[in-house]
Amino acid sequence: MAVILAQKLVEIAPEGLCRVLYASDGASATEMAFKLAVQYWWNKGFQNKHQLIAIREAYHGDTVGAMSVGMTSAFHKPYRPLLFPVHYAEPTLPSIESILRQHATSVAAICVEPVVMGASGMIVHPPGLLRGIRELADRYDVLLICDEIATGFGRTGRMWACDHDQVTPDLMCIGKGLTGGYLPLSATLTTQTVFEAFLGQPHEGENLFSRAYVLR
Ligand SMILES: Cc1ncc(COP(=O)(O)O)c(C=O)c1O
Repeated sequence: MAVILAQKLVEIAPEGLCRVLYASDGASATEMAFKLAVQYWWNKGFQNKHQLIAIREAYHGDTVGAMSVGMTSAFHKPYRPLLFPVHYAEPTLPSIESILRQHATSVAAICVEPVVMGASGMIVHPPGLLRGIRELADRYDVLLICDEIATGFGRTGRMWACDHDQVTPDLMCIGKGLTGGYLPLSATLTTQTVFEAFLGQPHEGENLFSRAYVLR
């Protein structure tokens, strides 16, 4: 069943997302994306690329990593002492680029809720913003994480919010509409390029430590 579902997800996912890692809820899917992004660079020999850029007041869930990246003041203020530092940008290209200009060599990924930031008040991004973020990520050599947990499965009028700008992220988190609440299930999809950075012999330490299941 897990393999059949993964194959179906790959069929409808943005072109190029061909590997699927399951988790149990949206926050865990985003945590997996952060870990994959950081370990991707680690495995490639860039141990310094471990920081994350996020959009200010975005929401990515309630586990510690998800709260750090999606620091929403309405929900997360008491937990601030637990959270790790993240670069917060406004949802504009100049704001994101100014962080990249200074910090790209230390940044693993930019994480965004594509097109609509739900929990922070249904903030709708202008058309083309996501495409611009994709281009910045490529230019500055950082990964792009799209959190489609709220927007996925047609909730913005396309199957994925990424489809509005024809963007393929390096990592895409999905949940909610995946089971419509019937099962505790989410997933993080990624590309062959990211997947291949995790291949190797166990003693080489390049595997991902997780309870998740990867489609091979
Ligand atoms: C964009 C986004 N990411 C992550 C989450 C966290 O999902 P869960 O509540 O399943 O952990 C949510 C939940 O509302 C969300 O809207």
